[in-house]
Amino acid sequence: MTLWAGRVGEQLAPEVWEFLKADDAELLPYDVAGTLLHAERLHAAGLLDDAELAEVRDTLAALDTVDPAAEDVHSFLEVELGEVGRKIHAGRSRNDQVAAALRLYVAAACNEADRALASFAAAILARAADEASTPMPGYTHLQRAQPITLGHHLLAWSEMLERDRARFAFAGAQAEPSPLGAGALAGSTLPLPPPPAPMRNTLDAVADRDFALDYLYAAAVLFTHLSRVGEELCLWTTAEFGFARLPEGAATGSSMMPQKLNPDVAELARGKAGTAIGRLTGLLATVKGLPLAYDRDLQEDKAPVFAARRDVRGALAALTVLVDGLEFDRDRLAAAASDPLLLATDAAEALVRDGVPFRDAHERVAASVREGTFEPPPQAPRLGDVGAAVAAARERWGC
Ligand code: ARG
Repeated sequence: MTLWAGRVGEQLAPEVWEFLKADDAELLPYDVAGTLLHAERLHAAGLLDDAELAEVRDTLAALDTVDPAAEDVHSFLEVELGEVGRKIHAGRSRNDQVAAALRLYVAAACNEADRALASFAAAILARAADEASTPMPGYTHLQRAQPITLGHHLLAWSEMLERDRARFAFAGAQAEPSPLGAGALAGSTLPLPPPPAPMRNTLDAVADRDFALDYLYAAAVLFTHLSRVGEELCLWTTAEFGFARLPEGAATGSSMMPQKLNPDVAELARGKAGTAIGRLTGLLATVKGLPLAYDRDLQEDKAPVFAARRDVRGALAALTVLVDGLEFDRDRLAAAASDPLLLATDAAEALVRDGVPFRDAHERVAASVREGTFEPPPQAPRLGDVGAAVAAARERWGC
């Protein structure tokens, strides 16, 4: 049953129907919330009476699954509302309806991401506090570079996540304005009160998907961060590095090689970064060149947003468990950090303090490294207080 059967005389061919159907059941609670808002507007305008509004509320509250035969969740809602459903679509279109529902969905997904990020950051910061003074080599070009502490390295992870938090907050704020009242594209002649935070332009209200792009961008950048963390976890847990061991609750075995303990969680987080970037570029390509206002192309906005939410939730939860249970090998870390060449830059800086121009100092130390006569200077403090940095980060995260 379609909402537009009055216009199309013939039955749709089953192939056409199958092709048009939206896979949008996940939108149900958000479409219910948007529909309630619209029902309240109709009630305020005297177009639904008290009993009808109550019936809308009760019927919507009882819905939990979508009939897979429906064209989309919006058609399903209207049919489920029965007789009062025949009134509910006054002054609205599925165009402002779907935009309203997806905005509520993205706002909820952003809140959820914020909570998951905070849990992951709390796990990282707990480990950073314990490892504030655990020496390790810092790397550039994946070659040993200068001495740092493990706490300092872990703090770099939480810095990335803090920026992700800001990006999800931005996307959530972008999703807030309401497209209700825009109708199909040009509003309505009915005297409906505006929704809270209405959008200014009716065409933009039904055509805009920037908030979904902002969400997919936040997810894509988050996944680039998780891929870098994942890559480091893969490296650190190799026999070659041996900096950490995977907790058994977050490691996998091999179906053939009995000895293996594999970092599949870290690898999958790394791998999903490619998919997350693809979702963003996919929706950008869908929106590109679309004439205003609504086009059915926009039905393609939902799958990437739903999938991104599932992956953000899943990856952050699994990585939280992994980082929580990671066993660091302080002896291996200390042995790697005791490589005297890590202090070559310090030796050059000691010469600078004695008045040698830096380039001369660099050349002198480089020559001693080449000749095998390099003598490391005594270690001087270089990084700030890691414990204090962890405390400040915890304050910002609220954990
Ligand atoms: N299922 C559609 C979507 O996801 C709802 C809007 C349909 N609007 C229309 N004019 N055909 O975009």
